[in-house]
Amino acid sequence: MRYLPLSKITEKMFLAHSVFGNDGRVLLKKGTRLTSSYLSRLEKMDFSDLYVYEAPDETWDCTGPVSDRIRAEAMQVLWQSLIRVVERKPLNDQQMSFVIEGVLKDVLRNEDCLYDIIDLKTADNYLYNHSLNVCVISILMGKELDFDRDGLKEIALGAFLHDLGKAYIKSAVKKLQELSLLDTVQIKQHAKRGFDILRPNFSSRVAQIAYQHHEREDGSGYPLGLIGIDIPVYSKIVAIADSFDAMVSRRVYENPQWNEQALEELEQESPTKYDPTVVAALRRSVALFPIGSVVQLTDGEQRVVVAATKTRLILQKTGQLSDLLELPTDDFTRIEKRVL
Ligand SMILES: [Fe+2]
Repeated sequence: MRYLPLSKITEKMFLAHSVFGNDGRVLLKKGTRLTSSYLSRLEKMDFSDLYVYEAPDETWDCTGPVSDRIRAEAMQVLWQSLIRVVERKPLNDQQMSFVIEGVLKDVLRNEDCLYDIIDLKTADNYLYNHSLNVCVISILMGKELDFDRDGLKEIALGAFLHDLGKAYIKSAVKKLQELSLLDTVQIKQHAKRGFDILRPNFSSRVAQIAYQHHEREDGSGYPLGLIGIDIPVYSKIVAIADSFDAMVSRRVYENPQWNEQALEELEQESPTKYDPTVVAALRRSVALFPIGSVVQLTDGEQRVVVAATKTRLILQKTGQLSDLLELPTDDFTRIEKRVL
């Protein structure tokens, strides 16, 4: 399995993950051989990189902790919720609760689970993938911080719906560099709007997450400029998961950061902006070398990461399915550097 830019993908390769439309429909199924017409379609959809199998019998999984079925359901429900918000109809909280229960079950199924994928966002699907990623990362962080199951469910709901207030805002899909002052002012309103949308149907904790996910420890955040002691931990979790996912995403930054760079930057900004205990929980929740990274070992050999959990990293020799190397995650001394 490789994580490759579109320009390096050939017609001999196979798609290693399903591609979904924003409404949750599968557009291209995992395992499909990437013909030139599929590749040009994916390019039109704004994908810049993809996970691919070099042989049809490869089975490495790059879908992350959430199964395709639950991912599709979650995207569908978010799509419908955004429409309901725009049409000023009440949200279907039971449907949302059901789908988030599925996400929670998938993420908690495996004790060893890390957030281990390089996500494939495009400008078009950003909000959908970002919402689900922030939800998954927040659940893992909440678990690290010993929240009970009910607490984790509220964190998951708040994380998944944290940006729902963006439904009204057209400029929310622009890149950071393209925003005018007016856009920025409008975008800042999304936190309060999210709170207003969620409050009638969800617990105050869930609504507060939407309200507070841009607050920062030193009071420099928005909308209220709260300081650390006044921000509940569940909101801090989603704030940090949100910043992390934005930092590693091509949608927001021209050159997305690798997981370890993003983690280091968040650590540098703590305790000023971010709570160090919560940032430490993030470090324990995400893979330093996510699936698809290529690393160079101390003997000069390059290998692709094909699995990453809390306890082990499995590295495959490029193009050789059976040549695997397993490293314990408490000892990365054999890794010299990351290549890709
Ligand atoms: Fe936000």
